Amino acid sequence: MNDNEPLPAAMRTPILDWFGMRHPVFAFSHSVPVVAQVSRHGGLGVYGATRRTPDEIRTELAQLRQLAGSAPIGVNLVLPPGMPEENDAQAIERELPPRHREFIARLYEKYQVPAPKRRGMRTRFLRSNEVSRQQMQAVIDSDVELVACGIGAPGDFVERCKRRGKRIVALCGSPKHARRAIDSGADFLVAQGHDSGAHTGPIGTFSLVPQIVDIAGPVPVLAAGGVVTGRHLAASLALGAQGVWTGSVWLVAEEYGLNPIILRKLLGAGSEDTVITRSESGKTLRQIRSAWSDEWAAPDAPRPLAMPYQDILVGDLLGAIDDHEIEPLMHYAVGQGVAYLNEVRPVAAILEELVAQAVVALRRLGA
Ligand SMILES: Cc1cc2nc3c(=O)[nH]c(=O)nc-3n(C[C@H](O)[C@H](O)[C@H](O)COP(=O)(O)O)c2cc1C
Repeated sequence: MNDNEPLPAAMRTPILDWFGMRHPVFAFSHSVPVVAQVSRHGGLGVYGATRRTPDEIRTELAQLRQLAGSAPIGVNLVLPPGMPEENDAQAIERELPPRHREFIARLYEKYQVPAPKRRGMRTRFLRSNEVSRQQMQAVIDSDVELVACGIGAPGDFVERCKRRGKRIVALCGSPKHARRAIDSGADFLVAQGHDSGAHTGPIGTFSLVPQIVDIAGPVPVLAAGGVVTGRHLAASLALGAQGVWTGSVWLVAEEYGLNPIILRKLLGAGSEDTVITRSESGKTLRQIRSAWSDEWAAPDAPRPLAMPYQDILVGDLLGAIDDHEIEPLMHYAVGQGVAYLNEVRPVAAILEELVAQAVVALRRLGA
């Protein structure tokens, strides 16, 4: 498929004009280079910044702008309601139940995990209103065109972003979330089904997308959860979505630079090799099955704590597992589409194939 060839009309959805995109493909990633490459090649890359400090967010969004040039870019924050007010991880640490601490100590011992070299990604700061406010300010001050809200879209944040000319997209896992996001003023929605990587709800993508499309009326909807091939993209358009929101497919991009042990696990996995567990963050999260998820699923394991207690309970151990490469416990968030992740390729090649396959699928259907 060459760049000058016109796309079938079905793929030229109105949302492309909002951002000046060529392809109806949005890409969530924690990698600045992946995000930049997607945007440069006609999609729209969205940087996952929820675990970054406000200063890191400022620096990384500036780097992203440099790499992406004038192409549209986005940033994502997860802003769940009900988090503690202050950034005080020690206060949460003091409340961790002894049974849970013992379980963690047993995992260190059983798998011979050396002491953490540094604070883990989940323990560097506490997910709290204090940090969220500063993260939101960094995002509002930035020049990104799109702000994506992961869990919950606070109305005043949405309002302030919109005043700065940013579009807001809200990730929704149920019709109830979609209604709430529309009431908060979101410009468009992602209908993210159960198949997806990381935090996910119980409703499958195929069941969810058309329901949210119907609720949304004139508000555009993107389909997410298991979108890894052009056939998924074509199907999403048929379900009434204006495009797709993708995550897992970029984990095997060359630019992502995934740890080789985890990469091997993903490349060899089928859809049934992912599990949903609360052991990572306290909320339901899909990841590749490993000794980590098996240990937490064992009958004598404690029940994971609520967010942000689970973050603080497991954060340093998770960091140590990755830093010391404790192979059986190493894992990563990924969706059921992992079955299609079979080789490492540059972002541009992955995006080009997604689009080309969708064109073939749509032409086969006579579109
Ligand atoms: C490794 C990974 C981390 C993710 N982290 C976040 C996140 O921090 N915030 C968020 O809103 N979505 C996050 N997601 C979900 C994506 O935004 C997207 O909805 C999802 O990946 C779509 O399903 P797919 O993985 O089947 O493509 C993550 C997904 C993956 C694979």
